[in-house]
Amino acid sequence: MTDRQLADMAYDMLKFSYVPYSGFPVGAAILCADGTVFTGCNIENAAYGSTICAERTALVKAVSEGHRDDFVRIAVVGESEDYCWPCGACRQMLYEFAPGLEFLVGKADRSFVKLGFEELLPHGFGPKSLN
Ligand code: THU
Repeated sequence: MTDRQLADMAYDMLKFSYVPYSGFPVGAAILCADGTVFTGCNIENAAYGSTICAERTALVKAVSEGHRDDFVRIAVVGESEDYCWPCGACRQMLYEFAPGLEFLVGKADRSFVKLGFEELLPHGFGPKSLN
């Protein structure tokens, strides 16, 4: 699975985004070590706070199917001018399971940048912090 392919799987999810309130679709695709990919999109709600982001949709799909400690890379993409940076809540939830995760972050022109948690969430609070 190339980075381009994973990003394209995330872009393919934009069509499923349910965004009647923000009009801001986001797509995600998370790659596991065995090559399995779980995809997600953002799903909004009339009670705005009940919205779930695309990355968390992909993550909860994966965890609920038995994947926990084998996440390699995630693509997060939008139709925005700027890169669709993952929000703080998504960074935190992903950090729980994959502090070594790589991110592909994309924008409307289908270009993406690649970076790791050391840049997105330095000194993150995770399970080991509770020791
Ligand atoms: N959104 C995501 O899906 N992922 C993020 O990391 C940033 C924000 C969604 C939530 C909401 O549906 C819309 O983008 C605007 O905030």
